Amino acid sequence: MSRARIQWIGGPVLKARVSEPFQIHEALAVGEQRLLGEVIQLSGDLLTAQVYEDTTGLKPGDPVIGTGLPLSVALGPGILGHIFDGLLRPLGDVGEHWFRPGLAAARSNEFEFEPRLAEGDEVRGGQVFGEVAGLGPGRACLVPPLIAGRVRSIRPPGTYAEDATVLVVEGEDGAEHALAMQHDWPVRRPRPAAERLSADAPMVTGQRILDTLFPVARGGRAALPGGFGTGKTVLQESLAKWCDADVIVYVGCGERGNEMADVLNEFPELEDPRTGRPLMERTVIIANTSNMPVAAREASIYTAITVAEYFRDQGLHVALMADSTSRWAEALREVSGRLGELPGESGYPAYLASRLADFYERASRVRTLNGEEGSVTVIGAVSPPAGDFSEPVTSHTKRYVRSFWALDRGRAQARSYPAIHPLKSYAEDVDTLARWWQLQGNSEWKDYRRRLLGLLETQARLERMARIVGKDSLPAEQQLSLLAADLMNEGFLRQSAFSEVDRFCSPKRQTAMLRLMMQFIDLAGEAVERGVSPAEIAAMPILRTLQRLGEEFGEADLDSKPQLAARIGEAFHALHVAEENADAR
Ligand SMILES: Nc1ncnc2c1ncn2[C@@H]1O[C@H](COP(=O)(O)OP(=O)(O)OP(=O)(O)O)[C@@H](O)[C@H]1O
Ligand SMILES: [Mg+2]
Repeated sequence: MSRARIQWIGGPVLKARVSEPFQIHEALAVGEQRLLGEVIQLSGDLLTAQVYEDTTGLKPGDPVIGTGLPLSVALGPGILGHIFDGLLRPLGDVGEHWFRPGLAAARSNEFEFEPRLAEGDEVRGGQVFGEVAGLGPGRACLVPPLIAGRVRSIRPPGTYAEDATVLVVEGEDGAEHALAMQHDWPVRRPRPAAERLSADAPMVTGQRILDTLFPVARGGRAALPGGFGTGKTVLQESLAKWCDADVIVYVGCGERGNEMADVLNEFPELEDPRTGRPLMERTVIIANTSNMPVAAREASIYTAITVAEYFRDQGLHVALMADSTSRWAEALREVSGRLGELPGESGYPAYLASRLADFYERASRVRTLNGEEGSVTVIGAVSPPAGDFSEPVTSHTKRYVRSFWALDRGRAQARSYPAIHPLKSYAEDVDTLARWWQLQGNSEWKDYRRRLLGLLETQARLERMARIVGKDSLPAEQQLSLLAADLMNEGFLRQSAFSEVDRFCSPKRQTAMLRLMMQFIDLAGEAVERGVSPAEIAAMPILRTLQRLGEEFGEADLDSKPQLAARIGEAFHALHVAEENADAR
């Protein structure tokens, strides 16, 4: 083990004079208390490290001991359903300074192990060698990615500690590997897969504005930028509860303690809408509130994505929500500032962009080493100061994501939630995902989507004009366009996270709602052509129903849709009859 002595210390970073070799990203035991640290720079005989604990009390001359291993986390059956800090230390135990070489924390859980291999079997990296009894996903015991050989011995079914040896592999190189249900993996190294696959299906979020207008692909990456109080956290939580991923990894990064407390209190109580079991059974929460050590916040998003990849490698679809990546970038800035590095834009270090890329590039849909399909979809919230999207974190993030969900202050103030601005947001995988909608029986999806966006663009243009000439002087069909756009905003895009009926909207219901809306808009267009005034259309009672369609037409009402379509038809028929009678008089 290499040794060094602290020469200088400032907050979470230190410099130490070395006489023996250290590795970049090597985990360290710092000071007499053996605080967890990591080498972040090496130059000549000077080592720079960040420390993942409160460094009060550390002083020049204190020892720094190398572990010979990169900073890693232990991936195993003990993760799912639990709450951890940024280095995967069970929350609550933080402060006890658990330490095992290279590793933030050791757990001591026991699990019921079922072997899936026998003595003499061939073994390769990523293979499932056993399973843990229980309910829910994420129960496969994986051979660590880089190991291959033959089973020398495997334990019979029984209860073992998560880190106890249950499998001994004779490596191809003749070395012997003692493996447990859990294995260590360096947080900054992407886990390997057999093949990266391209996008083919959306991750269904149950949010109409996302699934219909700005979908994110399974294994894709999305950013959710929004100023203070525009709804980032509420939307991230809705996604965690309702999206169709098998496993949720939720990173609360640098948010205020009370906000995180809401998440921590609420999640364990939630029921999984798909199974009726606790949602926590398929969730991992990584929490780093603003009062916790800043370096651990820097590491937390890598820890989170490593955990997500581990479940991906078990053939699962994983959604990772990070709230907020801006607080993560601030941690990077703070550490960089302490090191006296030359600050770039807004004080962020020059490597901000490449670090963001390292994170988002780990979103993936893959063929796993075990031959299955798995994915990690990443959704990063961004909190630009003053809601200014040209600031560095938002603008760099924009380069790496394919779905951009811009939260808008005006829409939030109008309580038009989710406050995603349809003209400032985009999604790049629409053509590919259209095929999926076609398979769901909605081959008009792309057309509807284009039409809806067209209406919203027209609305923006006409509203500018209406401000000058007055709304009533616009021609009838333009007034109708405004009415149609209002209807779409009000009745389709708006969706309350707190409505029992409407907080989730299945693709089937989204399709049905869109069809009803478009039917109304088409018939209204014909009526106006025949001389009906937009004011008469605006006064139609059926319009009230459509404006509240999300509430009035729940998942359970899907079968009664023909009725509603018929009612729309009848309403326009009645309008024409009234018109004809008036003409006749
Ligand atoms: N989808 C939604 N449905 C209903 N209400 C919402 C929704 N999104 C946000 N709100 C309302 O807006 C408030 C603020 O939302 P939220 O806390 O998510 O904002 P934020 O962007 O995370 O704020 P901060 O910048 O402080 O982190 C919520 O308490 C809620 O009242
Ligand atoms: Mg928030």
